[in-house]
Amino acid sequence: MNIALIGYGKMGRTIEEIVKERGHSIVGIIDEGSDLKISDLPGKKVDVAIEFTQPVSAFNNLKECITEGITVISGTTGWLDKYDELVSYTTSKQGTFLYSSNFSLGVNLFFKITQHVARLMSAYSGYGVEMEEVHHTQKKDAPSGTAITLAEGIIKNDSRFSSWVNEITDKKDMLRIMSKRIDEVPGTHTVKYSSKEDDIQLTHTAHSRKGFALGAVLVAEWIADKKGILTMDDFLGFK
Ligand SMILES: NC(=O)c1ccc[n+]([C@@H]2O[C@H](COP(=O)([O-])OP(=O)(O)OC[C@H]3O[C@@H](n4cnc5c(N)ncnc54)[C@H](O)[C@@H]3O)[C@@H](O)[C@H]2O)c1
Repeated sequence: MNIALIGYGKMGRTIEEIVKERGHSIVGIIDEGSDLKISDLPGKKVDVAIEFTQPVSAFNNLKECITEGITVISGTTGWLDKYDELVSYTTSKQGTFLYSSNFSLGVNLFFKITQHVARLMSAYSGYGVEMEEVHHTQKKDAPSGTAITLAEGIIKNDSRFSSWVNEITDKKDMLRIMSKRIDEVPGTHTVKYSSKEDDIQLTHTAHSRKGFALGAVLVAEWIADKKGILTMDDFLGFK
């Protein structure tokens, strides 16, 4: 397969290693200010572009890929206020894209586990719920995209909550997400239920970026012959 990388930072470089290990070709690398542009990609016979850049760049990059008829997957977080606009644009152009706040298999299983636990715990009002996410200090957005996906899954399954906040709150209908930034942490997410008597804690700890990068490459292989707007649930056969 011919793969283009958009964004050549920590994730782009880790993805490059796995793309090569799996026998694919990197036919273009686009980073901020590079000579190669997204409009050059059709000429490079790209099957799938993999986009990991920054919150401010992702929407325009993805839109440009769709304009050029390039299938694109994105793991960039912090731009989802424009997700619906991208869906409309992609539909109008009959394009193909997949966004995931987290490409690792373990985290996608963790999404399902925490949704199931939220349904179970919603009957036990003696337990409060809090979330914590910890990432490396260069991360630009807070809370993490993964924490937002986790929170949305809990809110959908526990009617006590209407929304999430990223600060201390007394409001009972707000799910609190605490964000911590500590050097070199690839990503740790915890959902904690606390009562006067005890705590129940669910934690996912990424050991490195490899799990995210491998997931992204597996999705690129899978999506190459698909059409439309797809999700990790489609890829993993969850529904
Ligand atoms: N979905 C997941 O599984 C997952 C996993 C890890 C990180 N992330 C997210 O992926 C994104 C990238 O993470 P990272 O750790 O590689 O960040 P990074 O800062 O190391 O790399 C980002 C790269 O994007 C480049 N860039 C910026 N604007 C660009 C543009 N307009 N076009 C092309 N390149 C551009 C930068 O020069 C940089 O090299 C972040 O939003 C992060 O939160 C997602």
